[in-house]
Amino acid sequence: MKKKIVVTGGTGYIGSHTAVELINEGFEVILIDNLYNSEAIVADRIGEITGVKPELEVFDLCRRKKVSNFFNENKNISAIIHFAAYKAVGESVDKPLEYYRNNLVSLINLLYAMREFSIPSIVFSSSCTVYGQPEKLPVTEEAPVQPAISPYGNTKQIGEEIIRDTIAASKGLKAISLRYFNPIGAHPSGLIGELPRGVPENLVPFITQTASGKRDELKVFGNDYTTPDGFCIRDYLHVVDLAKAHVIAVKRMIEGKNKKRFEVFNLGTGKGVSVLEAIRSFERVSGKKLKYRITDRRAGDIEKIWADPSFANKELGWKTISSLDEAMKTAWEWEKKIRKKK
Ligand code: UD1
Repeated sequence: MKKKIVVTGGTGYIGSHTAVELINEGFEVILIDNLYNSEAIVADRIGEITGVKPELEVFDLCRRKKVSNFFNENKNISAIIHFAAYKAVGESVDKPLEYYRNNLVSLINLLYAMREFSIPSIVFSSSCTVYGQPEKLPVTEEAPVQPAISPYGNTKQIGEEIIRDTIAASKGLKAISLRYFNPIGAHPSGLIGELPRGVPENLVPFITQTASGKRDELKVFGNDYTTPDGFCIRDYLHVVDLAKAHVIAVKRMIEGKNKKRFEVFNLGTGKGVSVLEAIRSFERVSGKKLKYRITDRRAGDIEKIWADPSFANKELGWKTISSLDEAMKTAWEWEKKIRKKK
């Protein structure tokens, strides 16, 4: 019998790519999404890619009764992968209560359901934002968590704490928190990718939208950092590589290979890339010159961060495969595709 995995936020960017990888690995997948920031058609697209359309349940995870009813009707779930969350850093500063409520109440409701219905495992979408500006680079999982700069970042930190304490108090449960660096790109099929609502906050969708003419120019937030070329440095990884790590994490817990009941892994390439290098990569793969302008620094931006992924490499047997150029190319292909449709 196929193992059943629930993917919350399953029609979203990382959730949809993960659903594809899970189905390809023989899991039965049920998506839960309130479609706040995604579209139901994504479930069809996952079906087109894999040949198996996953069930999609549309409801809000903040509604505890709904969550409980869902798990009451869907027994024998092997694991939950919890992506559903608000993720706009800037917006979270203006709407802290909405962010704390949405991101934390949904998590708490899922943890209650895990206890109530004996669902043994959860994978949590965390972020390298928990490290703030680390003193040592590349950053390992041992680096201290620093006070969050935004309510969004704080929901990831508090989320990890809620999970850690719940796992400690519940013998039958286990969890893996995956701290993502900067996911970019889209599925090579061109059927799923990121669909930013309104003006994108993240670099790569802004680059591709500028190149396709949807935005006038990219504002590059500062070139006076103390980095080799003066631009901020991040660790950009292909979303398909990232999605695969979730399948491995789920299998690890199902097969009882986890060393502790709560584990944390950094997911990145291990390579720092400056904003200028990212722009150059885009120009290389698209053959287009990008219109950009250097502006002031963005409040709250970290100067430089990249992962030490060696713990994930060793323990999960996972590493990124795609290069920056390959990831960037899929981002551009996706942008051209969605522009054509509109
Ligand atoms: C941010 C969050 C991260 C979150 C991620 C996804 C922080 C510190 N980081 O990552 O936790 O998971 O968003 O939403 O809160 N840039 C420009 N011009 C732009 C956009 C970005 O120059 O129009 C630059 C930024 O200054 C940065 C780099 O591009 O140096 C990447 O920015 P972005 O894609 O927004 O990701 P992070 O800020 O790294």
